Amino acid sequence: MNLSAPSTRTPPTAPGALDRDALFRQLNSDGVALTPPLLTLEQCQEIAALFDEPQLFRSTVVMERYQFGRGSYKYFADPAAVPLVGRLREELYPLLAWMANQWAPQLKERSYPATLDELLAECAAAGQSRPTPLILRYDEGDYACLHQDVYGDIVFPLQIAIMLSRPGEDFTGGENVFVEQRPRSQSRALVVKPSLGQAMVFPVRHRPVRGAHGYRRHPMKHGTNAVDRGRRTVLGLIFHNAR
Ligand SMILES: [Fe+2]
Repeated sequence: MNLSAPSTRTPPTAPGALDRDALFRQLNSDGVALTPPLLTLEQCQEIAALFDEPQLFRSTVVMERYQFGRGSYKYFADPAAVPLVGRLREELYPLLAWMANQWAPQLKERSYPATLDELLAECAAAGQSRPTPLILRYDEGDYACLHQDVYGDIVFPLQIAIMLSRPGEDFTGGENVFVEQRPRSQSRALVVKPSLGQAMVFPVRHRPVRGAHGYRRHPMKHGTNAVDRGRRTVLGLIFHNAR
């Protein structure tokens, strides 16, 4: 995909100012869409530093213990109370809900409410009350196996990962890897290298792709190539909560 490297001096784009149609076109053509930077260097560093404040998190996962890869991540206890994180999740949701609702008839799936509060109320009613936004930290040699972030029956179909480190400066390696399974064809891999503050928008489980006889579901998984050097920190925004 076309990956420009925006300067860290470029003012960040507010979620409400994103070009919805362009992002949706990129998502549909490539399987992943990359936004302009949504955060400044200072904001990225501020969020990344939260990783070392244990009182902010409900749980820590050391990936090696579960054979998920190597590295660790932490789920926020109350993301709405963390200013930048809560705001991003709330403000990005309507954009993704619009995309999800374009996909709904193509996937023959449900549609989603207009606001994050409504989605979270539905999740709570279904027993999914534990927040899923997380910070992931990968040091040298750390990686994540291909996976999907499904946490219960309610699965909002799109998620976001925001790069909080400077590729090439803070770390090398650690590329994002996506694999798309194509029915009756070989799988396709996609490597995405977001710059600081850029967000990747990608499917949680699958995406619709138009075929000769209507839309088909292409299952997708994501993971992270091993970090060669340095530290790579990412903010993950999943919109459904966990059981
Ligand atoms: Fe994930």
